[in-house]
Amino acid sequence: MDPLISLPLFFFFILISVLLIARAPFGDAWGKEGHIMVCKIAQPYLTETTSKAVLDLLPEVAAGELSAMCPWADEVRFHYRWASPLHYVNTPGVCNYKYSRDCHNSKEEKGMCVVGAINNYTDQLRRRGDSSNHYNLTESLMFLAHFVGDVHQPLHAGFAADEGGNTIVVHWYRRKTNLHHVWDTSMIETAMKDYYDNDLDAMVDGIMSNITGGWEDEVDSWENCQNKQATCANDYAVESIHLDCNYAYKDVEQDSTLGDEYFFTRLPIVKKRIAQAGLRLATILNDIFDHENRQEIQSY
Ligand SMILES: *[C@@H]1O[C@H](CO)[C@@H](O)[C@H](O)[C@H]1NC(C)=O
Ligand SMILES: *[C@@H]1O[C@H](CO)[C@@H](O)[C@H](O)[C@H]1NC(C)=O
Ligand SMILES: *[C@@H]1O[C@H](CO)[C@@H](O)[C@H](O)[C@H]1NC(C)=O
Ligand SMILES: [Zn+2]
Repeated sequence: MDPLISLPLFFFFILISVLLIARAPFGDAWGKEGHIMVCKIAQPYLTETTSKAVLDLLPEVAAGELSAMCPWADEVRFHYRWASPLHYVNTPGVCNYKYSRDCHNSKEEKGMCVVGAINNYTDQLRRRGDSSNHYNLTESLMFLAHFVGDVHQPLHAGFAADEGGNTIVVHWYRRKTNLHHVWDTSMIETAMKDYYDNDLDAMVDGIMSNITGGWEDEVDSWENCQNKQATCANDYAVESIHLDCNYAYKDVEQDSTLGDEYFFTRLPIVKKRIAQAGLRLATILNDIFDHENRQEIQSY
């Protein structure tokens, strides 16, 4: 290429990249850590048959770890623009969620939201033996594992007007950010720093010990739901919007400073959502890959 042309092109490319990166927080998901934690929690709850099937589908770069691929769907967001609406669902400013009203993309295509996506990728993996199924099942698995995490981040089922908290500017302690980012990333990072010596595995262990400790009586009910369709994803979105109204949005306005009080009262919600996402992902995968031997969570 003519260097006189390629240099301006190069700067143009840089400019576009910067613009894209600047947009990145919009509608983002649990940060990388949140997604990795969800999948690390799921892994020990997979049956042997499920683990083998998952291992067969994982790309080589995963080195046998499902959790390594759980942030993937966020990493390909700019390459797979069509999948961007699949990371969340919005309600019209109300504290309830309805599939028929809320689950669509900006072109009003039905099912193009996080709930529709969980059902979609579950269905693709279920039909893996079907010769008419030409989907890339590695991608189906990586999308599924990611979106089960996303739907549990309460602000991934938030209000449309504030884009799930993205347009609510807040200070997290002294740092300026937005409410969505506080729930994706800031609370997890502050917890890791304050309580777990910045060790992700230590925080995972902490959450796992609550699954067998403090939450053991509830864990059973996490597996089931009222309106099971392909999956229970609809109910997970309902739970999320309720948590938004009761915790995430509560007492927060533009330019609020959120500190200890918010952190201490909301961190338990974050941890429980990560735990629920992990166990439910395991349940969904066992149901897909090892339906016969599917065991109840409490027998592990
Ligand atoms: C279902 O998955 C396919 C393949 O990735 C994709 O083209 C389609 O948009 C997905 N639909 C939903 C609702 O997730
Ligand atoms: C399936 O998707 C993965 C991840 O995008 C990709 O690396 C792989 O090449 C795809 N496989 C096929 C057969 O296209
Ligand atoms: C979770 O476990 C920690 C100790 O590992 C304990 O201090 C905390 O109270 C537990 N939380 C719940 C909700 O059980
Ligand atoms: Zn996401």
